[in-house]
Amino acid sequence: MTRPWWRGAAFYEIYVRSFADSNDDGIGDLPGITSKLEYVKRLGVNAIWLTPFYPSPQKDHGYDVADYYDVNPEYGTLVDFDELLASAHERGLKVLVDLVPNHTSDQHLWFQAALSTRDDPHRGFYHFADGKPDGSPPNNWRSRFGGPAWTRDESSGQWYLHLFAPEQPDLNWWNPEVLAEFERIVRFWLDRGADGYRIDVASALFKRKDLADVPMVKDPLSGMLRPDPAFLITDQPQVHQVYRRWRQILNEYQPDRVLVGEIFEPQRQSRYILPDQLNMAFALIPAGWDAILWRRSIEIDMIALHGPGVAPSWTLSNHDVVRHVTRLGGGSIGRERARAALLLLLGLPGQVFLYQGEELGLEEVNLDPESRQDPLFIHTEGKHAGRDGCRVPLPWKKGEPNAGFSTKPPWLPMPPGWDRCAVSAEDASASSMLSFYRRALAARRRLSPWLPPVIWWQPSPQGVLVYRRDRLTVACNFLGYPVRVPVAGRLVIASAPLATLDDGWLTLPESSAAWLDAVWAE
Ligand code: GLC
Ligand code: CA
Repeated sequence: MTRPWWRGAAFYEIYVRSFADSNDDGIGDLPGITSKLEYVKRLGVNAIWLTPFYPSPQKDHGYDVADYYDVNPEYGTLVDFDELLASAHERGLKVLVDLVPNHTSDQHLWFQAALSTRDDPHRGFYHFADGKPDGSPPNNWRSRFGGPAWTRDESSGQWYLHLFAPEQPDLNWWNPEVLAEFERIVRFWLDRGADGYRIDVASALFKRKDLADVPMVKDPLSGMLRPDPAFLITDQPQVHQVYRRWRQILNEYQPDRVLVGEIFEPQRQSRYILPDQLNMAFALIPAGWDAILWRRSIEIDMIALHGPGVAPSWTLSNHDVVRHVTRLGGGSIGRERARAALLLLLGLPGQVFLYQGEELGLEEVNLDPESRQDPLFIHTEGKHAGRDGCRVPLPWKKGEPNAGFSTKPPWLPMPPGWDRCAVSAEDASASSMLSFYRRALAARRRLSPWLPPVIWWQPSPQGVLVYRRDRLTVACNFLGYPVRVPVAGRLVIASAPLATLDDGWLTLPESSAAWLDAVWAE
């Protein structure tokens, strides 16, 4: 039996707006991506995931889709998409498209029609409801971007539901018409040759039919009232029918086209990651720099998803979280830890998802409030800093204006010194983060496909994690001083130059990790 291409693959997330700009307007675009595919290929990944590039008013940077069948003119055309896809495929890179089925933009024709009159058939595509007699919204649900999850449509007096921004009305998946529309959309990008989809907020499509208030319960620790965390608004069982249907559709093309669900909660994943539904869901490591927390996080994800052909999709960063170099302490220590963290993750069974710029060691940018554009920042009135800080465009060339991204000001400003991590600079240095990523991914490609999908934790001093996966041993020192651990094998790669192997003893400098291979003859 051959292994499907995606099993154990390395994916690279491209945040389209910030990756590469081909026409110098300060906004990344599809031809920009095509021009950098060689860079992506050299990194050593198997596939790219493109964030939404559809026509959109950009209230949530593309996650507010106004037309599922076209390309945002800022990003190019359908022809540019076809070219991107063809050149990715020439290089053996697969391409995933981001599908946003939970909500549309308020500018989508369906929503515009729904607003036009109360009896327009598109009204049923969304959740419109009457408010409570006291003039408050239909229920107490909250938007994930802050404020109530309902906005009043002045002309009809009814309210519509949005789990995200008011400009992102939620689709009503109880309506079979919505299902039928999405079958067409799913086919559209598959017909063009896409290798699969990353599905945005994949467990949220169906909302509780009764639209009941979330009951308030007493928090056992603080004694304060809070919404009952056990009360499910979304994640309704009917959503699985949708994914079974989509799986069938993908199989009509090829069984190895993939569906990756944006589902983070490990306890939910096993209901979705099944042979007749989705292939993958993300395992985001939220832990700071702490051996016990890392081990727990890895174990929880591995227990949640195991079985023949099933394993977590490890992720350190994406476009929604603070960049992990910063999370791990920032500066040079943050970068050392990030290198170690990469080795720790790359040795595990399963897939890995990288986020553009982590291979350069980019940090979260502390943008001025005036530059911030994320709806999360806007709708929480600045209480939440938002996610712009991890979306600042990539630095390509050292010493050039805007680090070679564009001569026009990029859509998010770059902080001083951003070009220190430019691709041109890191490319030229064997000790750079970029060179390290290339070496680490190459080592993984050499070893990991042949290894069984299980790990054995080895006894190790406190603050140190050591696991074995057949011939591979991975050791990581979380401590602030060097440690010595007994190991078997030869040193394949280390995150710090001073790691040494001497007579079966590995010396690991502070905050570093190493791989050892127990098979001597190769
Ligand atoms: C997902 C996306 C995020 C977006 C949200 C609403 O979580 O990753 O960027 O804001 O969905 O579409
Ligand atoms: Ca551009």
